[in-house]
Amino acid sequence: MPDASAVRAMRRALLAWYRTHHRVLPWRPPPGAPAGSLPPYYTLVSEAMLQQTQVATVVAYFERFIAALPTLEDLAAADPQHVLRLWQGLGYYRRARNLHAAARMCCERFDGRVPKTVEQLLELPGVGRYSAGAIASIAHGQCAPILDGNVARVLARVLAIREPIDQTPTRHHLWAVAAALVPRSPRSSPGDFNQAMMELGARVCTPRDPDCAHCPLRGRCAAYAAGCVAELPVVRPRKQPKPVTHRVLVVQRGRAYLLVQRPGKGLWSSMWECPTAEALEGQTLIQWAQSRLGLALYPPTALGHFTHQTTHRAIRFEVSVAKVRGGRVRRGTGVWRALHKLDDLPLSNPQRRVMELLRGVA
Ligand code: ADE
Repeated sequence: MPDASAVRAMRRALLAWYRTHHRVLPWRPPPGAPAGSLPPYYTLVSEAMLQQTQVATVVAYFERFIAALPTLEDLAAADPQHVLRLWQGLGYYRRARNLHAAARMCCERFDGRVPKTVEQLLELPGVGRYSAGAIASIAHGQCAPILDGNVARVLARVLAIREPIDQTPTRHHLWAVAAALVPRSPRSSPGDFNQAMMELGARVCTPRDPDCAHCPLRGRCAAYAAGCVAELPVVRPRKQPKPVTHRVLVVQRGRAYLLVQRPGKGLWSSMWECPTAEALEGQTLIQWAQSRLGLALYPPTALGHFTHQTTHRAIRFEVSVAKVRGGRVRRGTGVWRALHKLDDLPLSNPQRRVMELLRGVA
């Protein structure tokens, strides 16, 4: 752990670097601005979006989200399908559902405000230790630490930590270091400090080809001094994603296509899709469609395939299209839509790719 004077020097160097090198982002208060200069709601929304998505992608989604739902109350009162539509394309839709539930909780339990303390923030759905620290420090000027992938990499290099950073004891240690580094007083901009750490990790202390020549912490970096920056951080190899196949059946009746809603739980819950068989269990696709939808179909023709990677699975989507021969869709099973009339239905990214395949041939 760096001593007190090294800690002060690192804070100063990092904050000075951040003042001139920060990116201007719509959810980011200007460096040095007092806490509360932007609505804490902006931090709540942006941190949910940034959990698994890059800054460059988030900007347009954030602006659209805030334009549609400008306040915490607007979000709390919004229709869940509207929230999913605004999230469409960002993926990991559980974040949208949690954010929505968090806004409702803020309105019901916290007087219509985003809570200030880490303990209260941790009560919000989808808010873990990292997000709680980010919101407390950026939105409310609290002296709370954060540790995300970027910050962990910076700290592992600065302290030349050789243990795998995804192991629990190392994470405890890294949290303790982050807590020791974050400024002790709201006047010393803990929110700017935390964002500076993330910014350094995202732009200078990058996983590959770090730009040590322009790093404000170079003079204090143990990995730089030892010439082992490129070897750190150590991470354990990830498990290979499991390969699975989902069969998408585009069901066509004239110019209309059948869309069905996914169950309320699990992957892409409550979103809409062309009927998709995750397991055929010995049936043909046509038999599956008959039993699932109550429709008789002409033999399908193949439209194409692509692979979509989730955290644990590599899903090969095999897409085919079939015309209706007879029968009626069971009540409440789905809706028929023309291709240009899908805007109000939230679709997952792979289902949007299905629509693109279809637009290519329709
Ligand atoms: N990643 C997560 N939160 C962030 C923030 N506030 N600024 C930049 N990148 C981030």
